[in-house]
Amino acid sequence: SKGLAIFTSGGDAAGMNPAVKCAAEYAARRGYKPWLVYDGLRGLIDDKFVEADRELISGILHRGGTFLRSSRSKRFFELEFREQAFLNLKKRGIEKLVVVGGDGSFRALNQFYADFGVPFAGIPATIDNDIAGTDYCLGVDTALNMIRQSVDSIRDTANSFSRAFVIEVMGRHCGYLAMVSALACGAEVCLTPELPYNLDSIGGRLKAEIKGGRNYVLAIVAEGTKMGDYLTRWITDSIGMEARLTVLGHVQRGGSPTVRDRLMAYKFAVAAIDALEAGETNSVMTYQDGEYGSLPIQTVCDSKYELDPLLLKLCTNLSN
Ligand code: F6P
Repeated sequence: SKGLAIFTSGGDAAGMNPAVKCAAEYAARRGYKPWLVYDGLRGLIDDKFVEADRELISGILHRGGTFLRSSRSKRFFELEFREQAFLNLKKRGIEKLVVVGGDGSFRALNQFYADFGVPFAGIPATIDNDIAGTDYCLGVDTALNMIRQSVDSIRDTANSFSRAFVIEVMGRHCGYLAMVSALACGAEVCLTPELPYNLDSIGGRLKAEIKGGRNYVLAIVAEGTKMGDYLTRWITDSIGMEARLTVLGHVQRGGSPTVRDRLMAYKFAVAAIDALEAGETNSVMTYQDGEYGSLPIQTVCDSKYELDPLLLKLCTNLSN
């Protein structure tokens, strides 16, 4: 039967494992012979293929990260190595690919499609939630819950010691994680790359609240603003409240996928196999305004992600 290979690529995200499991099972039901590739694009080049048997895809659903491991391969940008990858597919009769990852990986696969005509379907997965054309990427909900748990814990000590905490969250250039966690955790301040902020008005607001009895402050900053250190010093110096900085870092990438991430993984995986079946050659699965669909990779690459206007509006109050 026709071969189909599944792998994960780029930054790991919770939900990758259920996506791989479901894609393998559903592909088999649709008459494909499913293969798995370890180490992402690197494994495609270095021939790390295994057949997706029952043992491999059992007991992985609830695990964080990606059991197939991942990589950000530089070699895949060179035609010579892409050719090597193609020969690995060819010798096994693998004709289609499912890649779970970010837009960098999708772009690489699109080049591969242009070179050798191997169709692929992309499943968006990145905690940054910065892929254009989809409101949701796998891993986001799990990351938000990790952040929520960490901020709740920081609040305990902030309140006990009457301090301010600046908490830096991931997201690369995107402020989605920062905005949603600031709202969900009731932070007083949120700085993100998407919204202009005004320290003077933030200062006036905080001082008034402190006068009214506020004894601690939580400020969430997106890593993309590079404002963590500065804001921490500024709170101490201008507001007069002792402040500490916590950079949450890679804890945000781990953890067992939440119910939402598991379910979204299943839906995206089924959509990916169906898209390949329907003859789509280079599309990315999307979830937009409550609808599942897919978009050509070119459309995704040519557009910029857009954040929910309501979310931006709500967060305006936290950056002023
Ligand atoms: O893209 C996911 C992400 O976790 C970003 O939020 C972050 O900026 C980056 O990856 C960290 O990269 P690395 O894992 O290579 O340190």
